[in-house]
Amino acid sequence: MIAHRPGPAEAALYREQGFLLPIQALPEDEALAIAAWIDALPKDRLTALEVPWVQKSYLLFPTLDAVIRNGAILDCVEALFGPDILVLSADLFIKPPHNGQRITWHQDVNYWGLEPMEVVTAWVALTEATPENGCMRFSPGGHLRALPHIESYAADNMLSRGQEIAVEIDERSTVYGALRPGQASLHHGLMPHASGPNQTDRPRIGFAIRYAPTKVRQTSGPPITAMLVRGEDRYGHFRLEHPAQGDLDVAAIAAHRAALLPHAAERFSTI
Ligand code: NI
Repeated sequence: MIAHRPGPAEAALYREQGFLLPIQALPEDEALAIAAWIDALPKDRLTALEVPWVQKSYLLFPTLDAVIRNGAILDCVEALFGPDILVLSADLFIKPPHNGQRITWHQDVNYWGLEPMEVVTAWVALTEATPENGCMRFSPGGHLRALPHIESYAADNMLSRGQEIAVEIDERSTVYGALRPGQASLHHGLMPHASGPNQTDRPRIGFAIRYAPTKVRQTSGPPITAMLVRGEDRYGHFRLEHPAQGDLDVAAIAAHRAALLPHAAERFSTI
């Protein structure tokens, strides 16, 4: 378990292996309550939105805005990036029971057009995440170089373009990121990761939050908007977002649509 404020040894471990876990982000009952709340959301209304509701959903719901500001996670991110922190995106990954959807081996920031590629993903388990229900797998040390990817658009791949690393990952050296509800893992933007299908009777729900220091800037792709969640933005490289005021209120839906529409048009997303 990573302490509330990770020290130099944990930061060094992160730099060496490219991921860190588990971090106790939320009490288990709180995480499960959020998972139950997500399960009960009006999905017909959400899927009717013009843009994918599972992306940047903190712009739609104050409950999820609170999660991206979680103090334990931000303390870890601060230990890596310093005190000025943006959220570039946050994506819900919901794997229904007995669902064959999987996520192929990929690196996140490889295709996000960011410079420098200093992004860390906090993957928050809202239900338990296990090898049986498709928890993430990591390839230790694999974050040290950018690998070539192909875009397969495969139907059973949850990634928007079916992105997949074009070289073989040594499966024997990979590590399962199993987490209890409320625990989180951190992984480097270039950490190769994948996850399998959910073979259990219950949904697997995770919230993947993408943090970057304010100094990062975008060099290509549709413009990314960002939420300042700690410190100050002295750079102004991204148009800043405003916290959601009410669940699915008119302003929230408009802000969410504006943030995602340029990305949806190209099937581009920061997931
Ligand atoms: Ni990913």
